[in-house]
Amino acid sequence: MGLKIVSTGIAVPEKTVTNNDIAQFLDTSDDWIVSKTGIKQRAVATRESLTDLAFKAAVSALKGADLAASDMDFIICSTILGDYTSPSLACAVSERLKTICPAFDINAACTGFIYALSMAQAYIDSGAAANILIISADMLSSLVDWTDRAVCVLFGDGAGACVVTRGNSLKYMKLAAYGDTSVIRQRNGTGNNPFSAHASKGEFMTMEGQEVFRFAVNAIEREVNSAFSALNITSSDINYFMLHQANKRIIDSARKRLSLPEEKFPVNIDKYGNTSSASIPILLNEMLEGGKIKKGDNLLLTAFGAGLTTGTCVLNWE
Ligand code: ACO
Repeated sequence: MGLKIVSTGIAVPEKTVTNNDIAQFLDTSDDWIVSKTGIKQRAVATRESLTDLAFKAAVSALKGADLAASDMDFIICSTILGDYTSPSLACAVSERLKTICPAFDINAACTGFIYALSMAQAYIDSGAAANILIISADMLSSLVDWTDRAVCVLFGDGAGACVVTRGNSLKYMKLAAYGDTSVIRQRNGTGNNPFSAHASKGEFMTMEGQEVFRFAVNAIEREVNSAFSALNITSSDINYFMLHQANKRIIDSARKRLSLPEEKFPVNIDKYGNTSSASIPILLNEMLEGGKIKKGDNLLLTAFGAGLTTGTCVLNWE
């Protein structure tokens, strides 16, 4: 399959909110949050818009690729909700980058980055594109109810971008969506439609935490094993398992079920919380900047999220 990631970039808001900061106004504690999730702090937007973060991450990825915005054939953003329901976040970024290539959003919740990579692969394989800018950006601080301690403590805001070109990195890709609108959701309102039979202002994000936990651990185990079978490889062929950073306990449970060593499962949820679809590209950027990923390394990326969606891919780093 003809794709490689040539560069990454990230942006997070300036403000860091610690667990103790949240405990000032909610009945929670640093101990509870750390022991249940592994999260110590998260970045939360105060002045930044999601477009600001997405644009900053994009500029950084373009610089790393030594390519101009005008070299991009597509801009694909994954997000649950941009600054505008319409136009898309991708169009808001293209306004700042001054591009005219097609730009659009996809929403696969926390699995969005893997979905975006899969779309990029299809465009590149078909010959429709040579260079694609992917930006995964989410601002869940504006979607959660800050009086709901079971949900608001979990998330952070951020953006991760990458430039993708023709190459031979991508060895495996599998996506799925197990249609479900109850386990995690955020329902939109009906506006002021006077004819609506079910007038509603919309809801904050709701989540059945233990259902998500079970779904995630099962999905990670199943999808990692599927990738092994499809590629006829074992865990020793993979250098890093880069999982969506939703909860350290989810990552640990899945890792233990797979009987794999901790050092192959990088974690940064302690610093950023769950940044939704931005979590894997933020982790990838951190690993690349830290010199941890080397040419020839095999990376298995797997994510899960509202939908309920899953996405898994294997990259041989070029
Ligand atoms: N501080 C203190 N106590 C809390 C908090 C909090 N922040 N939140 C919940 N509690 C309480 C509950 O009220 C409950 O109290 P009770 O026993 O008196 O009723 C107790 O802690 C235990 O709550 P549980 O929900 O049973 O705790 P659990 O062990 O399931 O952990 C958690 C909750 C962390 C949410 C866990 O279920 C989880 O991580 N689930 C997955 C979440 C996730 O990954 N979501 C992202 C999905 S991706 C996307 O697309 C958005």
